[in-house]
Amino acid sequence: MTHIPVLLKEVIELLDPKEREIIIDGTAGSGGHAKAVLQKIGETGQLLLVDWDKESIANLKKAFASYPNVFIIHGNYAELPGIMAENNFPKADGLLLDLGFSSEQLEKSGRGFSFQKEEPLLMTYSDASESLQEFLKYVSISELTDIIRKFGEERYAERIAEAIYAKRRQISSSQQLGEIIKEAVPKNYERGRIHPATRTFQALRIYLNKELENLEKVLSALDQILTPGGRAVIISFHSLEDRIVKNYFRELAKKGRIKIITKKPTMASQEEISQNPRSRSAKLRAAIII
Ligand SMILES: C[S@@+](CC[C@H](N)C(=O)[O-])C[C@H]1O[C@@H](n2cnc3c(N)ncnc32)[C@H](O)[C@@H]1O
Repeated sequence: MTHIPVLLKEVIELLDPKEREIIIDGTAGSGGHAKAVLQKIGETGQLLLVDWDKESIANLKKAFASYPNVFIIHGNYAELPGIMAENNFPKADGLLLDLGFSSEQLEKSGRGFSFQKEEPLLMTYSDASESLQEFLKYVSISELTDIIRKFGEERYAERIAEAIYAKRRQISSSQQLGEIIKEAVPKNYERGRIHPATRTFQALRIYLNKELENLEKVLSALDQILTPGGRAVIISFHSLEDRIVKNYFRELAKKGRIKIITKKPTMASQEEISQNPRSRSAKLRAAIII
């Protein structure tokens, strides 16, 4: 399944890219949002695309090969100020972050993001991060419980951690891990609304990729990334991320460093959700640098 960019119309409205402007997409993924941004900035603008996944970068390089004003760099958005300095890229008029993973990564990256696939236990975007397989070699039950509880908000964290720990040396695929988790929780888990492994997989992915730390780092560097008047648009997919964005924005607004332009988070319409179920949990917050 190809990745459908979420809240595309809203992103373009709030990021408001214009001719001659400089825009950064820090999570360029399959380039869906980036294409729409490029249409708005035209040939006179500049677009910097960053992604942590090498395969996404290779695909982006092919897709945008004929655009000399699109710069594509493999890296972590948390390091954006450094990436910009190294590449002589000036402060931008807009920054887009569409957090988490893409449908392509879930379906066919082979990196173990899906509990429905026989894939190696990586769960990382970048080979530079420690894989789940490596981590399971030394993690303790209590640390595993804490991670699943904190980053998955999973009430059966203890049982799940015990089950994973007991089989940690035998688990070789993401599907196998999913099955172990399923067996560890009650049969009517969440009344069947979500797969029993959903929260645990989310937790492990957030932990291994340091997703919340990355988000905090980029938020604390907004004024190094954007010029005054620059717009930051951030889409999150779970409450832990959204809380960080909300609180950071509030703090910065109190200090008079940004103006929040989404009083409440913008969410997908029923129509969008029916066409793209992934958009159901998306929350978009946007602010302008003062
Ligand atoms: C939801 S997808 C973005 C999809 C994109 N907006 C589009 O329209 O195709 C999120 C992307 O962020 C990337 N990513 C996750 N963490 C990252 C990080 N710390 N730095 C850079 N990219 C990251 C993932 O590899 C993935 O490609």
